Amino acid sequence: MKPLNDIDSEIVRLLKEDSYVSGQEISNTLKVSRSAVWKRIKGLREGGYTIEARPNKGYRLSPSTTTPYTAVAISSLLTTDTIGRNLHFHDTLDSTNTRARELAADGAIEGTVVVADTQSNGRGRRGRQWHSPANVNLYTSIILRPDMPPERAPTITLLCAVALAEAMERFVTPKRPSVKWPNDILINGKKVAGILTEMNSEPDKIHHIIVGMGVNLNMEASALPTELSEIATSLREVSGKTIDMAKFTAELYSSLEKWYTLCLLKGFKPVLDKWQSYFDRVGTEIKVSGQAAGSSQEGICMGIDDDGALLIKTGSGVVERVVSGDAN
Ligand code: BTN
Repeated sequence: MKPLNDIDSEIVRLLKEDSYVSGQEISNTLKVSRSAVWKRIKGLREGGYTIEARPNKGYRLSPSTTTPYTAVAISSLLTTDTIGRNLHFHDTLDSTNTRARELAADGAIEGTVVVADTQSNGRGRRGRQWHSPANVNLYTSIILRPDMPPERAPTITLLCAVALAEAMERFVTPKRPSVKWPNDILINGKKVAGILTEMNSEPDKIHHIIVGMGVNLNMEASALPTELSEIATSLREVSGKTIDMAKFTAELYSSLEKWYTLCLLKGFKPVLDKWQSYFDRVGTEIKVSGQAAGSSQEGICMGIDDDGALLIKTGSGVVERVVSGDAN
């Protein structure tokens, strides 16, 4: 017997807005009884879908239905082979990264994702808090198990930045996102997404990487504390359109799978090229604050190298590699 969520997302895939599909056809395709179909349709309605029923015709999605933000909706929109196929959706969690780490430690397969509608302890980089209001933004963590040495893990963060920027482009055309080394995505110079990458490894082997992504989809930046509201924005603010959260999530997983597969097959170069197409700091003055209080490096930005390190030409003319930090 298939899990009910899988049956539900398959029913949603079968339903169309412009034509009816009969209960019998759904029952035949999914190999479940007519009464099971009826019960699942009832459940889908309760879960937020508007489904019309017509005698002798069957069911169709109402053209006015909005996609709910649920596990079923995301699953029904997935076009991936692995990423998101094992989906853990929660209304609330402390942190999707923390939950993903527990699942990874229990052996969860690569591509397992955790999504929460809100987080009570959303974590940003360097111990910062990630504000995670409900019903507006995407908070997701993905478990990856790449066969690469741990020192190459930073390339995975850049790969995720590419996936995020590419997914965003589909929703905010003609605005173009830019990447801010190493973990942020900006639009109009303001932050729309951040990435928190956490790794579990031995000296020469990665056990797993958790990539946590927070994406401001429909949030009003003015709802954030003042120090953040001036430097943050959301896709809705820049596009003037409400973003379908389930569709964005599925699009992100699809873009991520595409770049991850390519990177494992052909190496980091294609990802690097794409990342550079979103990077607009080459040739400009850049300052990177380090981990230790007061430590920083500054100079002219020369781009990034094959391992994802930032290259800065200092006043003395030497090009230095910076592997971590916060760029201005
Ligand atoms: C940053 O810019 O500092 C990184 C922010 C990462 C936030 C995401 S939201 C989903 C995942 N769960 C967390 O607790 N953090 C990441």
